[in-house]
Amino acid sequence: MKKITYSCCEIDNQPLKVKMMHIPEKEPKVTLVGAGPGSKDLITVKGLTVLQQADVILYDALVSKELLMGIDATVPKIYVGKRCSEHSFTQDDINMLLVEKAFEYGHAVRLKGGDPFVFGRASEEIEYVESFGIPVTVVPGITSAISVPASQGIPVTKRGISSSFWVMTATKHDGSFSEDLKYASQSSATMVILMGVRKLWEITNEVSKYRGSLMPIALIQNGTLDSESCTIATLGTMENHISSIDIRKPGIIIIGNVVAEHPSFFEEEVLRVLHSNI
Ligand SMILES: C[S@@+](CC[C@H](N)C(=O)[O-])C[C@H]1O[C@@H](n2cnc3c(N)ncnc32)[C@H](O)[C@@H]1O
Repeated sequence: MKKITYSCCEIDNQPLKVKMMHIPEKEPKVTLVGAGPGSKDLITVKGLTVLQQADVILYDALVSKELLMGIDATVPKIYVGKRCSEHSFTQDDINMLLVEKAFEYGHAVRLKGGDPFVFGRASEEIEYVESFGIPVTVVPGITSAISVPASQGIPVTKRGISSSFWVMTATKHDGSFSEDLKYASQSSATMVILMGVRKLWEITNEVSKYRGSLMPIALIQNGTLDSESCTIATLGTMENHISSIDIRKPGIIIIGNVVAEHPSFFEEEVLRVLHSNI
């Protein structure tokens, strides 16, 4: 039976207690590793090396299960995902578990989808873990914001078409619509919108006020996985697809003329014109 002790620290003047299962044989340390967008081989070489050295792994919902299957079966792998349909961990649960597991096992790897610093709440985890005197390092990952469009042949910039891109979320932490959406719509930047599938209808409405109904839009879901799907339309025609979209799948919305680089954009456009004339 393992001996249970407690470690305390203060955050915002509030004392916090974290359970330590035993006096660790190894020095506790934490590494945040970006797992990439989903495909198991889109993790970096450094990320994979660190993963193979882990004593315990805490992983997100969007992390490849195949990637984890390649890691030593004796290394505990703890799911700490926040997806709506599954058992959900709060950020506080995750922070605490990370500290507990580092004290219990030694090297805890926090495996996060994409890049830890892109809508990944990495800073909160680092601040919490470091407040216990545990050292933290970060291994960057390939963000879905760029790699998922790329997997469909959509460049986020292209000479003469788009000279910048704006990565944003549709919803702010209080659930309200992000104002950046309006500001980005008024620019000529390619818009890359994460966590927006459930708001697709509101997004197309809002953006078409500034960019017009002919602006190309793509929704890519389960990007870089075998189950990847892609819907190509214009802001004006996207509503025809909304009822057939599975909103439970993670998706990236791309709005801008670069979407016309998608191999099937013009084919779809011709079909749209033909159907509109019937
Ligand atoms: C909490 S954010 C984390 C982003 C991550 N840190 C990154 O750099 O890619 C999760 C959102 O990223 C997007 N996303 C992540 N992986 C994706 C994938 N394989 N296909 C489509 N969208 C993805 C979705 O918009 C999803 O809701």
